[in-house]
Amino acid sequence: MTEQFRIEPLSSEHDRSRFSSGSAPLDRYLREQASQDIKRRIASCFVAVSVQTKEIAGFYTLTAASIALTALSPEIVKKLPRYPVVPAALLGRLAVAEHYQGKGLGGVLLGNAVLRIARAELGVFAMLVDAKDDAAQRFYEHYGFTVVSGADRRLCLPISLALRHFEGRPEHPA
Ligand SMILES: CC(C)(COP(=O)(O)OP(=O)(O)OC[C@H]1O[C@@H](n2cnc3c(N)ncnc32)[C@H](O)[C@@H]1OP(=O)(O)O)[C@@H](O)C(=O)NCCC(=O)NCCS
Repeated sequence: MTEQFRIEPLSSEHDRSRFSSGSAPLDRYLREQASQDIKRRIASCFVAVSVQTKEIAGFYTLTAASIALTALSPEIVKKLPRYPVVPAALLGRLAVAEHYQGKGLGGVLLGNAVLRIARAELGVFAMLVDAKDDAAQRFYEHYGFTVVSGADRRLCLPISLALRHFEGRPEHPA
């Protein structure tokens, strides 16, 4: 039987205690901090849950952000009005449980975040991500994200370009 996932907001129904992505800070964040951030409206958090086992297979967080035009590449800036900053959404954290990694779920979670941002009823020009290491940076570059100048491992992708990549793709791994 092919495993199926639902992507939904984190709630008290979800068992976070066994989630293990290989990154202790990300696992600890899900266990100890995510609910507080949601309650205080600092971040929203979405989890991919196995329909069969109810296990959390992955999660991501979204936060309102902005980016200075001076940090964007000239090709992007030339299509924008001369505002000092433009609105963005920050995917602050993304993690997939170790035994689900390499099966497409990370890409599906990223695509789910892009579509969620694009459907929001407020203007969001770009998606920002914080990569925790070189491997994470390469994962985001694989989807067209480019490094933001002057920021440590922060990358950016205009939502219009992200939609070209993700629209029409399945929102759940096959
Ligand atoms: C990074 C992470 C989220 C990727 O999730 P995943 O489920 O293993 O990745 P997927 O299987 O969905 O890969 C999707 C695509 O990205 C590519 N990819 C994955 N990791 C990559 C890497 N390090 N470098 C380049 N490409 C990569 C895959 O080849 C795949 O390409 P395809 O769609 O053309 O086949 C996951 O490995 C993880 O949770 N790591 C630990 C925490 C972490 O590093 N989080 C990153 C944010 S800080």
